[in-house]
Amino acid sequence: MSSCSIPNNGEEVCVTGAGGFIGSWVVKELLLRGYRVRGTARDPTDAKNAHMLALDGAHERLTLCRADVLDYASLRAAFQGCHGVFHVASPVSNDPQELVPVAVEGTRDVINAAADEGARRVVFTSSYGAVHMNPNRSPDAVLDETCWSDYDFCKNTDNLYCCAKMMAEITATEQAALRGLQLAVVVPCMTMGPMLQQELNFSSNHVARYLMGTKKSYPNAVAAYVDVRDVARAHVLAYERPGAQGRYLCIGTVLHRAQLIAMLRELFPQYPVTAKCEDDGKPMAKPYKFSNQRLKDLGLEFTPLQKSLYEAVVCMQKKGHLPVIQQQQCAVQTCKIRTIGGDMISQMQINKA
Ligand SMILES: NC(=O)c1ccc[n+]([C@@H]2O[C@H](COP(=O)([O-])OP(=O)(O)OC[C@H]3O[C@@H](n4cnc5c(N)ncnc54)[C@H](OP(=O)(O)O)[C@@H]3O)[C@@H](O)[C@H]2O)c1
Repeated sequence: MSSCSIPNNGEEVCVTGAGGFIGSWVVKELLLRGYRVRGTARDPTDAKNAHMLALDGAHERLTLCRADVLDYASLRAAFQGCHGVFHVASPVSNDPQELVPVAVEGTRDVINAAADEGARRVVFTSSYGAVHMNPNRSPDAVLDETCWSDYDFCKNTDNLYCCAKMMAEITATEQAALRGLQLAVVVPCMTMGPMLQQELNFSSNHVARYLMGTKKSYPNAVAAYVDVRDVARAHVLAYERPGAQGRYLCIGTVLHRAQLIAMLRELFPQYPVTAKCEDDGKPMAKPYKFSNQRLKDLGLEFTPLQKSLYEAVVCMQKKGHLPVIQQQQCAVQTCKIRTIGGDMISQMQINKA
């Protein structure tokens, strides 16, 4: 065992929302590190969860449990005997009817059930939607773990998902403090990379829509991106590292959408990715500064976004979400992505299948 992790001796942990995009990678990472894992799903027999049983170690060490975060008894049954809980489950939607109960009652129930079952530690999956949505933040400010979105701004601009993630994170933090549970919060941004599950999740679809040509123009907007495998490792590091607590901003890179589009067009010139920016009459939005130092200090190394995007697209092709277009068959491509100002931000070689 390296000095990076404490020996887990096959200790048992539970992951809520185990069949989803991020949940599946958290389960995979935990199995890889020798844990016995319980994964919750509202319907474990649904074919959309079948990929879980094919993970390395799943046969010996993974149990799927039926649980809804709004059903307290089901959570207690799922967490029985677990040392730790990874609370990943949440609808990724903008529907308040679905979001609010899961964010507030669901999160409170998860924390209480974990405490009632004797778990010592919870890792909660928040979102940078709870962090960066603040129009009054100076463009020169560094986005870090002290930042919170402006709730009223999110509500007034119909970003209800961000409101829900704020409510959920605050509920998790308050309830964990009340119950004396150790809590670490991983705050991922737009998460990219290969899917283990068959169904297209929200953030993978974000890229697929550009490749399919469904998006006819891109917004004058900036967003933060991270690889799904980094998000999973962040969860496990935050769980394992003694003393790890509080928020961990999980951001690999920040790009204007024009830069993301440039990467996609360079990696996959055979797809009809739009080159048209929506004219909102405003000057070009500037990528903001951020700090991912807390996670780096835990030992996380971030994956270059080109690799995440490339592997996400190949995965979506293999799963039938994107057509395979032949021009991709070259062996190696050097990918050079430039910022709007023309500075090189990255250069890497990608081995193409
Ligand atoms: N993907 C991103 O870009 C991103 C970025 C930042 C934060 N996040 C956060 O990461 C987490 C996972 O997101 P994801 O992208 O992996 O989404 P996903 O693929 O849609 O998975 C969401 C999971 O939540 C579960 N779920 C939803 N409502 C539930 C309920 N009432 N009770 C129990 N489980 C419920 C679903 O389980 P079943 O339907 O199988 O029961 C599903 O497994 C969420 O907390 C999300 O807010 C995601």
